[in-house]
Amino acid sequence: MTVTASAPGKLIILGEHAVVYGKPAIALAIDRRIKCTLSKASETTVNGRPFEDDKHPYLKHMLLSSPHPVRIETESGIPPGSGLGSSAALSASFLKALGKLKGDEMDGERLAKEAFSVEYTVQGGASPLDTSASAHGNGVALNAPEDAGEFLWEISMNGRRWSVRDIKIPEMTLVVGYTGLHAATGPLVEKVRKYRDKNTFAADIVNEIGCVTLEGMDALRKNDLVRLGKLMTHDHKLLSILGVSCNELNKLVDASLRHSYGAKLTGAGGGGSMMALTDDPDKVCEAIALHGGKPFVVRTGVPGAKYE
Ligand code: MEV
Repeated sequence: MTVTASAPGKLIILGEHAVVYGKPAIALAIDRRIKCTLSKASETTVNGRPFEDDKHPYLKHMLLSSPHPVRIETESGIPPGSGLGSSAALSASFLKALGKLKGDEMDGERLAKEAFSVEYTVQGGASPLDTSASAHGNGVALNAPEDAGEFLWEISMNGRRWSVRDIKIPEMTLVVGYTGLHAATGPLVEKVRKYRDKNTFAADIVNEIGCVTLEGMDALRKNDLVRLGKLMTHDHKLLSILGVSCNELNKLVDASLRHSYGAKLTGAGGGGSMMALTDDPDKVCEAIALHGGKPFVVRTGVPGAKYE
């Protein structure tokens, strides 16, 4: 038996890093996916090569729940460390396919919870934002007010709790600018944790990101893209103060702003990608390319993890 499943990457519109501390956040699934094809085998292989623990920390962890070796084939449209949720998409697509192979199919809630537990363990700290967006698709809001959207599930870990809601997204054009710099999420989450633990000023910034995100949810509901864009740019400044931006990201954000409602880094930062909300994607793509980034327009409103 062979099973193929795919799951989408994501863009975080507002709230990354602060969401790790239970603050609200908004993420949209995007039309970049990872596809995993699994079949029972006599030896575990990844894309035709013998499986190596240290090369595949996420797979290593997930394979613990497989009763037998597996032949794993992956196809990815999401560069690793790009801030676009490659590890969550890998975990969600792999676990979805493995569940079916074991005769134990998972619904969205179970998949989101199990994929989050993988991220949390491998990264050494995380929120369920990326994995819920990848499992559910469309748009998700964490720790949002009750009227923000339909309640999906609640996830807890080590005394923190996140409610996850489906949110409706107005028509909008989003351009991503990939710096080409690989940035692992774990160390960036750890950097913010240390800063916030030591410094009440950093804790205030985390709280302020939470307030900006709540305002952004209201702007989204009212389809007020001007306000949403301003909040995104403000969020980028707050994330820069937390130390998770870098020159390359700042350059791409600055270059996009002239043709955008707003722009910010998206995901963990430290490299990876930025995003801009715009009515003029061609000009934004041109500006990003001119400043050394790889631009692309993303489509949102895409399905979550599914069998192919
Ligand atoms: C990474 O895409 C988002 C972070 O907030 C970490 C997390 O929520 O797990 C930086």
